[in-house]
Amino acid sequence: MTLLPKKIKTAKVPPIKIQGIKTKLVPFIAQSISWDGNGTYYEPFMGSGVVGFNLAPQKAVFSDTNPYIIQFYQEVQSGKITGPIVREYLEREASKLANTPADKNSYYYEVRDRFNKFHSSLDFLFLQRSNFNGMIRFNGKGEYNVPFGRKPQRFQKSLITKIVNQVEWVSQLMKEKDWTFVCMPFTEAFKLMNENDFVYLDPPYIDRYDGYYDSWSEELALELAHLAQEGRASFCFSMWYENKYRKNYHLEYWKQGKLYTTNHFYHIGAKEKNRNSMIEALIVRDEHRTEFMNL
Ligand SMILES: C[S@@+](CC[C@H](N)C(=O)[O-])C[C@H]1O[C@@H](n2cnc3c(N)ncnc32)[C@H](O)[C@@H]1O
Repeated sequence: MTLLPKKIKTAKVPPIKIQGIKTKLVPFIAQSISWDGNGTYYEPFMGSGVVGFNLAPQKAVFSDTNPYIIQFYQEVQSGKITGPIVREYLEREASKLANTPADKNSYYYEVRDRFNKFHSSLDFLFLQRSNFNGMIRFNGKGEYNVPFGRKPQRFQKSLITKIVNQVEWVSQLMKEKDWTFVCMPFTEAFKLMNENDFVYLDPPYIDRYDGYYDSWSEELALELAHLAQEGRASFCFSMWYENKYRKNYHLEYWKQGKLYTTNHFYHIGAKEKNRNSMIEALIVRDEHRTEFMNL
């Protein structure tokens, strides 16, 4: 049994970044949940994995419907991807990228085409770290279609070292833990959960632009609310609570647990006037299931 850390000052960032990454909310999540660690930690919408990697439970199942995220971590776990391999790959690809323009003739698009044919995890890492705004998006044919971030000099030595360290951090974590990475929809993950387990839920935000691997819908959001509340595992559900225009009506479907909120600032572009505030919510039901809330 391992207790999860209550205090995390600053979360560490994993190698695959994605939009909606919860790095800044990890300390808030850590202090809001309590779970005795007797069982399995589930993260069925793992995305970058930043939450689970920082909480570092002893036994965990990380899953997502994006097969490339899962493949990447399976390969880190099997040793197919290591720090030195990533360094060698990025150094080679960095100089090819640096010698091309920032427009549609960039080497980035060659890597993107190659990724769409062969689905190499290293190419996925390259794209995810040099694309536009860390977005992750696929077209109707399942092809990765995020444009270039327009910086041919993107992979400076310091960034390569940073990424290599991130790979080594997650690789070391996995060696010490009993972790599994599975490509599956959240509905399958719920079939595996038991009473002593804990699940962190961070689905795509309803009512907001969704550019992930699968499309998200109101129907799926309701199914998730149902499965979590009918299920036996403790849960922590992340969702936006309100912004300056409105409250999130979807939270009405979550009747169990305790509500925690925090103010989160994010920027669109560089200007101060584009600094927006959003209240983020966590709904936490611990193992006792005694508390009900009114939103
Ligand atoms: C908001 S992101 C998770 C972000 C993550 N917590 C982080 O901090 O990086 C939502 C994730 O859900 C995945 N997803 C979308 N639909 C899904 C489904 N039906 N089942 C499982 N995962 C799904 C997406 O691929 C995406 O990685």
